Amino acid sequence: MKKVSLLSISGSLRADSTNTLILRKLAEFLPEHVSYELFEGLDQIPHFSPSLPDNAAVTNFKQAIQRADGVIICTPEYAFGVPGTLKNALDWTVSTGELNDKPVAAISASPLNTGGDKALASLLLTLTALGTRRNEDSALSIPNIKLKINSLNQIVDETTLEALKAQCDNLLKIIG
Ligand SMILES: Cc1cc2nc3c(=O)[nH]c(=O)nc-3n(C[C@H](O)[C@H](O)[C@H](O)COP(=O)(O)O)c2cc1C
Repeated sequence: MKKVSLLSISGSLRADSTNTLILRKLAEFLPEHVSYELFEGLDQIPHFSPSLPDNAAVTNFKQAIQRADGVIICTPEYAFGVPGTLKNALDWTVSTGELNDKPVAAISASPLNTGGDKALASLLLTLTALGTRRNEDSALSIPNIKLKINSLNQIVDETTLEALKAQCDNLLKIIG
C-alpha cells in the first residue's frame, strides 16, 4: 500500500493542552501505512510580515507541510477566535502556497459547550483562503472536552473517539 504521511498542528502551546492530547490520540486510529508527525515549533515562528524573509522556523514549518500528504489542525478558541500563534503560522503560507490543494481536517475543542465553534468557523475561512482541499465532513467541533477526559488524562468519551476516527478516515479518503 502507498505510504501516506500526515502532519498535525495544535493551536495550543500549553504542555497539558487538551487539543494536543486529541492530536496525540489520533495516531491510534491510523493504519500502518500512515506516518504521523505532531508539529513542534509553532512558538518559534516570528510575527508574519510580507516584507520579512523566511527564517529557519518558518522554513521548518513550510517544509513539514510540504512533506505531508495531509494536515490535521486541532485548536482551542481564544476570545472567540483562532489563537494568534496558529493564525500567524498559517499567514506565512499565504503567498508561498504550501497548503494550496492540501487535504486538511480542522478540529476545535473547548471546555465550553460551544466547542470552540467560532474559532473553527474562522479557521475554516482561513483554510478556504489558503486553497486547502476539504469536504463537508472535514471539520469537527468538540464541546465540553474536559468532561470527556478521565483522571489519567485519557479521552474516554466514545462518541468523541468515533468522531475523531471518522476525521482520520475522511482525511485519508480525501488524500486517496
Ligand atoms: C484568555 C483565554 C480566553 C479564552 N477564550 C475562550 C473562548 O473564547 N472560547 C472558548 O471556548 N474557550 C475559551 N477559553 C478556554 C480555552 O478553550 C481553554 O483554556 C482550553 O482548554 C485551551 O485549550 P488547550 O487545553 O488545548 O490548551 C479561553 C481561555 C483563555 C485563557
